[in-house]
Amino acid sequence: MTEVEHVTCDSPVNIAVIKYWGKRDEKLILPLNSSISVTLNQDELRARTTVAISRHFKEDKMWLNGREQSMKSERLQSVIAQIKRICRKRKMDCDQLEEKLQWKLHICSENNFPTAAGLASSAAGYACLVYAMSKLYGVDGDISKIARQGSGSACRSLYGGFVLWNKGESVDGEDSRAEQIAPETHWPDLRILILVVSDQTKHTGSTVGMQTSVETSELLQQRIQTVPDRVEQMKQAILKKDFHTFAEITMKESNQLHAVCLDTYPPVSYLTDISHHIIQLVHAINQDNGSNMVAYSFDAGPNAFLFVQEKDVPIVSRVLCHFYPSSDPHFLRGLPMPEKTDYQVDYTTFSELKVIPKALKFIIHTKPGPEPSVKESCCELLASDGFPKVNSNDDKQS
Ligand code: DP6
Repeated sequence: MTEVEHVTCDSPVNIAVIKYWGKRDEKLILPLNSSISVTLNQDELRARTTVAISRHFKEDKMWLNGREQSMKSERLQSVIAQIKRICRKRKMDCDQLEEKLQWKLHICSENNFPTAAGLASSAAGYACLVYAMSKLYGVDGDISKIARQGSGSACRSLYGGFVLWNKGESVDGEDSRAEQIAPETHWPDLRILILVVSDQTKHTGSTVGMQTSVETSELLQQRIQTVPDRVEQMKQAILKKDFHTFAEITMKESNQLHAVCLDTYPPVSYLTDISHHIIQLVHAINQDNGSNMVAYSFDAGPNAFLFVQEKDVPIVSRVLCHFYPSSDPHFLRGLPMPEKTDYQVDYTTFSELKVIPKALKFIIHTKPGPEPSVKESCCELLASDGFPKVNSNDDKQS
């Protein structure tokens, strides 16, 4: 047996096209409605986590993006305890295993995208932690119900492509799980442009935001009645690769989420003037095109996730660069933006809209991507002594 046993995994970010907003059980993280998301490609956005156990570790420890974190979070503790419990249940009568389950745990996690971008990372982070721990302890089967209890949306990051989180019916949450609708290869020409808005404001976290909505918003109660139909329509749009319908439902869902937020008392507002400008611009593009060429979706922050078909990326990115000019040489990131010089955009159609320099920090071009995976040892974030490879000096025990 080696001194330190460890596993390193990568896990994707997901963006919901049918939004999860509101819980029926706060502790078990059971949602009021089912939701659907698109898993994003990990070359552009991913969480990476190394988990390690050793008889020599003195205490459980965790580092996130180079900084040591408290492990006191109730959700974190509950996720760790559950993986160990499942492991015990499935592999009874094994003394060696029980000994290992007692060993202290070191967790080191980092994202490949700037934390300052304000892109939700808890879903990818919890999915990665649960996935890595399941590999470390050899737990197989459905782990989405454990990830769900770290952060609801995390359960959807355990699958690639297009994912449904079934709200489930049972009080213990056993049937509140994620499942794949279709893999990322199903719709190969779908693209996502993430517009990272220049904004310093601290926003109400989604946990608190949705809790207040459940307590105060009548609109949320009405919304819950209509989501099942939308889930079905969205599933069909994905299966048929019907971009026009997919785009329409995506935008209506985003709008309804933010309407619920405004109906919350006191209101919660995540969208800024720039977000609203993006919404107007997208509708202007679609109107000019005669059908939906682009769709927006906003979560609990001002950043826009735009869905586009690959063939339309050149024109959409050209329009975006016209309205949100930037001198940053790294303004366009991620997948290469195809150059299409012969295309002329008639900006008179958009005469109502102002050009806003520096409205965006940068744009990330990405596509749907696969589920989490185990990485090679070269990707490990913890050194052979079980402490972080980078920025480790402050954190090491003597
Ligand atoms: C707006 O999963 O972050 O992104 O379960 O309390 O951790 P908790 O909330 P979280 O909520 C995500 C809300 C959303 C919509 C979505 O992803 O479906």
